[in-house]
Formats: sequence, structure tokens, C-alpha cells
Amino acid sequence: MDDRPIGIFDSGIGGISILNNLKDILPNENFIYLADNKNCPYGSKTKKEILLLSDKNCKKLIEFKCKIIVVACNTATTNSIQELREIISIPIIGIEPGIKPAIKYTKTKNIGVLATENTLNSKLFFKTTNDNKIHDIKIYEQIGYELVNLIEEGSFSKNKLHQLLKSYLNPMINKNIDCLVLGCTHYHFIKTRIKEIIPDKIKIIDTITPVSKHIHNTLKLKKILNRSKNKRYIKVFFNGEKLSEKYIQKEYILDSLEF
Ligand code: DGL
Repeated sequence: MDDRPIGIFDSGIGGISILNNLKDILPNENFIYLADNKNCPYGSKTKKEILLLSDKNCKKLIEFKCKIIVVACNTATTNSIQELREIISIPIIGIEPGIKPAIKYTKTKNIGVLATENTLNSKLFFKTTNDNKIHDIKIYEQIGYELVNLIEEGSFSKNKLHQLLKSYLNPMINKNIDCLVLGCTHYHFIKTRIKEIIPDKIKIIDTITPVSKHIHNTLKLKKILNRSKNKRYIKVFFNGEKLSEKYIQKEYILDSLEF
């Protein structure tokens, strides 16, 4: 029995999409979630800044005695996971845009990717794309400028979001994509808005479910699953302005914290 919590961090509420999934498939586990919303968005910061912020978040999670760290942010993963693994001794699992499943799926050989600037510019994203790309497949990348900020606000104007999304998605739709990779955990919360714009035949690919399964398997393999039937806790801490409660489930204990 290992009742140490699972530690998760993101620049804000994006990674809550992974927490929502994980807490269902791991009903005995305790969770500590850090929303670094004081420093949100990560998507336009330098690699060095992202690395420092990720390191700071990991150290805080280690203070909470977490047994594993989930980097619930594509931007932080693609810009810092290799370096973090060199300095942090507990297992670290990240999330990356689902390029591999998209390559497997596409029939039109045109794939769209919507992600932050720093994810798309990262060496890891470049490597994953190049290692897996088949010569005649085209990948159309689009930076989701402003989307993270709007989602963090929670009470955004639906019309503004719709116009922004149309300007990002229509050029990719015109390139005959048959799948759209959501490469940012925040975008999970606007999936329905995205579906309003793209035709039904375009499949949305995000990696929340496979990453959650991978975390489950890692806990099993390392024999650190919590088998205790004691009531578990899920604590969500933020360090900036209050998080939008729209995304916070009843079971979550929400509080502010310096980190
Ligand atoms: N949720 C983060 C991601 O998956 C958002 C990055 C940001 O803060 O810009 O990339």
C-alpha cells in the first residue's frame, strides 16, 4: 500500500482534464494538483523559463511527498521533460501531442495540429514528428494564440472564441485534414466549440486517455498503487488569481498556495 499522492502540474487549469480522467480510473489514489496560474501562459515563454518553472513545480510536489509526477502540460513536457528526468529521482510522466496516433489514422494524409507556440517550436515535437512521419503525410501546424488565456478566464465571450477558432481551423479544414491533434491540455475544455466548426468526418485526437493509462501502468509496474480503501483526497492549489470554478469538481479541495 502506498498512499503518497500523485503530483500533477500545469500552467493553470488545463491539466485538470487529466486529473478528471485519472481520479476515475484510480479511485483509491490521493492527488495534489498545482496550477501555476501566476505564470500562465507557458506557451510564449522561453525554454529556459519553462524549465525553471517546471523545476520549481516538481520541487513543490516533492515537498508534498508525491510518488510520481505528471507534467499535465504539452508545453512543459516538450520543453523540459528530458532535463527534469535528469534531476528528479521519482518517475515523471508527460503529455505530448498525439502525432503517432494521427499518422496511424490519417487516410487523406493531411493532419492538423493545434498547440502552443512553444510546443510547436520545441525540439521534442520536431523529433517526434520527424521520427514518425511518412514521406507523403503533411502536417499543418497552427498556434492557438490567446486560447489558453480565454480558457483560464472561464467566462469568455463565445463569439470571440468562435471567431478565433474559425480563423485557426478553417485553413486546416481547407487542406483536407481528416484528423485534428489537440496539443494542449487546455483545449480539452473547448472541444465542443471546436466540433461546432470542424466537419464530423474530422477526428479529434488528444492524448489524455492514453497518458492516463500509461500512468496507471507505471504505478502497477513500480508496485506503488494505493490499495487502501481509506477516503482519498484531491487537492488543487493555485498561486495566482483564483481559478475558474467552472472546471473544479465537487470532490476537489481548492486552495491558494505560494510556490
Ligand atoms: N496546458 C498547457 C499545454 O498543454 C498550456 C500551456 C500554456 O500555458 O500556454 O501546453
